[in-house]
Amino acid sequence: MPVRAPHSPADFAAYYQLRYQVLRQPWQQPPGSERADDDDAPTTMHALYTTPEGHVAGVARQHPSGPRQIQVRYMAVDPAFQGQGIGRQLLAYLEAGARQQGYTECILHARQEAVPFYERLGYHVVAPSHLLFGSIQHFLMRKEL
Ligand SMILES: CC(C)(COP(=O)(O)OP(=O)(O)OC[C@H]1O[C@@H](n2cnc3c(N)ncnc32)[C@H](O)[C@@H]1OP(=O)(O)O)[C@@H](O)C(=O)NCCC(=O)NCCS
Repeated sequence: MPVRAPHSPADFAAYYQLRYQVLRQPWQQPPGSERADDDDAPTTMHALYTTPEGHVAGVARQHPSGPRQIQVRYMAVDPAFQGQGIGRQLLAYLEAGARQQGYTECILHARQEAVPFYERLGYHVVAPSHLLFGSIQHFLMRKEL
């Protein structure tokens, strides 16, 4: 299974490096800005996609955001590997983990560019949400699990 939880310090280093490279560096954000306070919480579930050669090509996480609801955050696929089904597999892994724990709903704040990706995977736009770095419009999206 190419998608799994990160375990070793090397896994986590590659995990945060890819998150930074895809979601923060292009907007000149400082190293460390890719981390969230609840990344180390036991209830936060991380997912790592590795190629057969051992390259970390995709990352994502989810955490409980309500009694029956999870939120997906920090979905990032290496640009050289986008459009190959990696994002789909990461999301399926996080959703399956949530379902196993009894969660029935998933929400996320999608960048405008990623909205069609999430729509393809069963999410619906609820409403526009925040503007990140003054330029990236986000949309609250939701899916029944
Ligand atoms: C958005 C992102 C996570 C998608 O991951 P990916 O591995 O490239 O997507 P997949 O190959 O799994 O795509 C799954 C399906 O969505 C479609 N899709 C993916 N990105 C799309 C887009 N921007 N527009 C329309 N369709 C898209 C694919 O064509 C595929 O459709 P299919 O069912 O016909 O095969 C990835 O492109 C990425 O990291 N982008 C930059 C960072 C980002 O925007 N992250 C999301 C923050 S909310």
